[in-house]
Amino acid sequence: MTDLRTTAIEFAHTNRSRFLAELIEFAAIPSVSTDPDAKADMQRAALWVADQLIALNARNVQIFPTAGHPVVYAEMLQAGPAAPTILVYGHYDVQPVDPLNLWQTGPFAPDIRGENIYARGITDMKGQVMASLKAVESVLHAGPLPVNLKFMIEGEEEIGSPSLVPFMESHKDLLACDFALNPDTGILAPDVPTITYALRGLAYFELRVYGPDHDLHSGTFGGAVLNPAQALCELIAGMHDAQGRITLPGFYDTVRPLDAAERAELARLPMGDDFFLRTTGAPALYGEAGYTPVEHTGARPTLEVNGLLSGFTGEGTKTVLPAWAMAKISCRLVPDQNPAQVYQQMQAYLQTHAPAAIRWELIDKHGGVPSISDRNSVGNLALTQAMETVWGKRPIYKREGGSVPVVTQFQNILGVESVNTGFALPDDNMHSPNEKMHLPTWYRGIDTFIHFFYNLAA
Ligand code: BES
Ligand code: MN
Repeated sequence: MTDLRTTAIEFAHTNRSRFLAELIEFAAIPSVSTDPDAKADMQRAALWVADQLIALNARNVQIFPTAGHPVVYAEMLQAGPAAPTILVYGHYDVQPVDPLNLWQTGPFAPDIRGENIYARGITDMKGQVMASLKAVESVLHAGPLPVNLKFMIEGEEEIGSPSLVPFMESHKDLLACDFALNPDTGILAPDVPTITYALRGLAYFELRVYGPDHDLHSGTFGGAVLNPAQALCELIAGMHDAQGRITLPGFYDTVRPLDAAERAELARLPMGDDFFLRTTGAPALYGEAGYTPVEHTGARPTLEVNGLLSGFTGEGTKTVLPAWAMAKISCRLVPDQNPAQVYQQMQAYLQTHAPAAIRWELIDKHGGVPSISDRNSVGNLALTQAMETVWGKRPIYKREGGSVPVVTQFQNILGVESVNTGFALPDDNMHSPNEKMHLPTWYRGIDTFIHFFYNLAA
């Protein structure tokens, strides 16, 4: 086994420039799942992934159409029934690029600057998908696969995976496995290998506020008619109290409290105030009273305004009282909150607080359930060992503030745990302009997956 492992690692090292060239090809496809005009590119990205799997000699490679974007499936089951079966998850879709003018180079013209490669979706998560595929390629080059693999690469993660749940429910047998590998998370720093054991959930809303039936002259009518932008801002302002707590009725009722032992462990993470100040560039931190930033972002629920729109925002001035205002608002959830309940809570808040002088409408966009995974699962132990081999130190375990709702679906629909890993860095600008990936970390990621697969067989 040791020989195969060494051969696989050597192969991965000598093929780095080709791996990178392939990644650049993948990252050049503008697979923005939320963009209705990107259907053809989404299809192209799915095909590109399927072609990679075919090139690896995977069996049963399929591009399953769904109500939305297709799911790519493939399997490599040669290791036989005695070996574990791992479902490798990934997504080929990416977030929108805007604001485009803040990108130094085109979001779909991958550019290498120093140790980083810049492109939309490079770290979230085309690079991670490629790291797992290139690790498999390296292992296959060395000899037989020590484990069975199934691949499920979707195209709707960034829009809440609406088609994936029905797909998983109707393909339970096809997807049967011992556990899932979810490489859609990150590590804390290039020299801090990290395993994620919890992910937050999400409840996403659009709140629309309507006032007069058309835009008004702000001098003729201002003062006599409530401005919907003002009403919206007041509603939003009331969603937090002075302690930074969320005021939606019942919001905290099902939040699992953090126990002292876990708080003590989270306090050991190398993520103090200075980490958050440095990585965000914010002039000061904010947060629910009584909790640390690590707890705020990992273990406590939050409510954020993701976007605001109303009235005149162009160059110059216009004295107008707008007819409407809207906000995109989302809550990050922790166990045992549930997005449908949070929608009801938001409705209840608005019913109580919305003034009679406006009409409002709340649209439920999408949601995801929070998850906690078993830290001592077979998969996490194999990954811990792999990271120790590659980095020369034990990984730390953290809770992630972002969401990968499918992890809960793996638990609920397939009855399996997930290994949550990935090699994105906190300063990779995920979902922001100039998204990047750190190449030395990516190469370590490939090595990690190689060791991981061999560790599982051992
Ligand atoms: N890869 C991210 C989740 C993540 C973020 C992991 C930061 C580690 C660090 C994932 O692709 C993502 O962005 N998910 C969305 C899910 C949502 C649209 C349902 C998110 O968290 O906003
Ligand atoms: Mn993402």
